Amino acid sequence: MSLIRFDSVSKTYEEGDDIVQALDSADFEIDEGNFVAIMGPSGSGKSTMLTLLGILNTPTDGDIFIDDIAVYDLKPEKQADFRSEYLGFVFQAFQLIPYLTAMENVMLPLSITKMSNKEQEKRAKGALERVGLADKINRLPNQISGGETQRVAISRAIVNEPPILLADEPTGNLDSKNAIGVMNLLKELNDEGETIIMVTHDKKTAEYADYTIELKDGRIVSKK
Ligand SMILES: Nc1ncnc2c1ncn2[C@@H]1O[C@H](COP(=O)(O)OP(=O)(O)OP(=O)(O)O)[C@@H](O)[C@H]1O
Ligand SMILES: [Mg+2]
Repeated sequence: MSLIRFDSVSKTYEEGDDIVQALDSADFEIDEGNFVAIMGPSGSGKSTMLTLLGILNTPTDGDIFIDDIAVYDLKPEKQADFRSEYLGFVFQAFQLIPYLTAMENVMLPLSITKMSNKEQEKRAKGALERVGLADKINRLPNQISGGETQRVAISRAIVNEPPILLADEPTGNLDSKNAIGVMNLLKELNDEGETIIMVTHDKKTAEYADYTIELKDGRIVSKK
């Protein structure tokens, strides 16, 4: 059984008289443990696909299944629980809270759980150690480098141990050395069993994935 399934998923955005078909009848499955890249020109629907996958958007047509559950049939509060249990997010702009330390940023996803404060701290520390930042847990985002900031963001995304990690251009703001560091980290997480779906426009970055889904004008044009 596949972990993720898109069943003829379409998304149109309406802006006044303008109708944009951002995704057109997308069909695909992703197995547990896969590392998948999504590529395509600007405006081809990559982020739309990722936000649909992350239950941060709504399809105009079709169904999306995660672990055999039709996620858009869930009530909003169930969707929030589902998102917290299954999905971690990493974005191009790192989106750390500037006035919270690395540790506090990583603890954020745990604050909505019933976990004790002590347990939250232990987990956050573990997640920061996992990305090699044990010595920087008390730094603010403006006191660490871009590559380190993205590693804090990855640490925050995995602190809940979600089985699926979604990444939209995770190396988009990094120089090539830091980009390689972040990609090696994602590859290690994948080797440990994490399912990763990553949007990228960079062929080198896509090579870390098992296969690439290519989009053009909202349509899947190849999977290889
Ligand atoms: N909230 C929105 N409202 C209206 N149109 C949107 C919205 N989000 C995306 N679109 C449009 O849908 C299409 C696909 O956008 P999307 O963001 O998925 O592309 P993308 O492949 O991620 O592009 P990029 O590489 O530039 O990030 C584009 O034409 C875009 O303008
Ligand atoms: Mg995008």
